[in-house]
Amino acid sequence: MKRYKIAIIKGDGIGPEIIDEAIKVLDSVAVNSDFELEYNEYLMGGNAYDITGEPLPAETIDGCLSCDAILFGAIGGEKWDNLPRDKRPESGLLKLRSELGLFANYRPVKVYEELVDASSLKSEVVSGVDLLVMRELTGGIYFGEPRERSEDRAYNTMVYSKEEVVRIAKEAFESAMKRKRRVCSVDKANVLEVSQFWRDTVEEVAKDYPDVVLSHMYVDNAAMQLVRDPKQFDVILTGNIFGDILSDEASMISGSIGLLPSASIGGKVGLYEPIHGSAPDIAGQGIANPIATISSASMMLRYAFSEFEAADKIDRAIEAVLSEGYRSKDISNFGAKEVCTTTEMGSIIADKVCNNR
Ligand code: IPM
Ligand code: MG
Repeated sequence: MKRYKIAIIKGDGIGPEIIDEAIKVLDSVAVNSDFELEYNEYLMGGNAYDITGEPLPAETIDGCLSCDAILFGAIGGEKWDNLPRDKRPESGLLKLRSELGLFANYRPVKVYEELVDASSLKSEVVSGVDLLVMRELTGGIYFGEPRERSEDRAYNTMVYSKEEVVRIAKEAFESAMKRKRRVCSVDKANVLEVSQFWRDTVEEVAKDYPDVVLSHMYVDNAAMQLVRDPKQFDVILTGNIFGDILSDEASMISGSIGLLPSASIGGKVGLYEPIHGSAPDIAGQGIANPIATISSASMMLRYAFSEFEAADKIDRAIEAVLSEGYRSKDISNFGAKEVCTTTEMGSIIADKVCNNR
């Protein structure tokens, strides 16, 4: 029997609730499979700070490195907003990404046909959208040095090395080869040196992928094109901060940020997490949508363990549950036959996974 060790980081806010549902679904898919799942829980974020004084205790890094994959909920909350930057929950996540070398962030945006009306955009604009934001995750302005804040001035630095651009560009082209063979690289080359360098480097990498059509777009235009005609995109390749912004924007194409998963890979152990945050305003109310996290668990099975059949089972179960009209609160105005709580949604998907076996 294969045995996969999963590091579980529940985090803050709705993190614990949504992770519990993902574990429920994972346990369900493991029944009658040829693998076993082992979970090891670690602390990160505001709760980790409260208990240990650090948003990312050393134990968590070591623990994650001893596992085969990491499933993570969300971190952050007003309670910790006034801490010094290096103690803030967000710093814990950034450090984890950086320490584990997770430079490639996959953020797929797919529209569930049952939910086309949930999007704030017209259904004909969003129906059939299937794109992937490939966000560089361990470089750019998030990590650039020097950075400083003084009394009357502050700055950060946007910096990319050749190596950093080459490896994320390769990741985008490789993904495009398995998809519709189109890469749109997004930058601000009309203004920023670092972006012109990004663009030139992506051009060089493209020479190794003659079957992929490469285009370039300025980030302001890309933000507009994403809501004007998202179907024009296949793989969007972009840097850390542009990817952060564009992926939140793109999530609304699907109707709710509560639906979208992500995978961060590149190092020894990959990190799988919903793209949404910790939503402290709704924490503990049982109304959070667990689908983004359950879908991230499916990505983990697919990317980290190559358990494609198990991942397909989860994806199909989510689709079936949505087409039967089960809705969490965030999407309850769109085709709901039954509005369910976080735990009900997890249980219904877990049951489906078993029944569709
Ligand atoms: C994300 C989040 C993080 C980011 C925050 C929490 C540091 O917004 O994963 O998109 O900016 O990368
Ligand atoms: Mg973000």
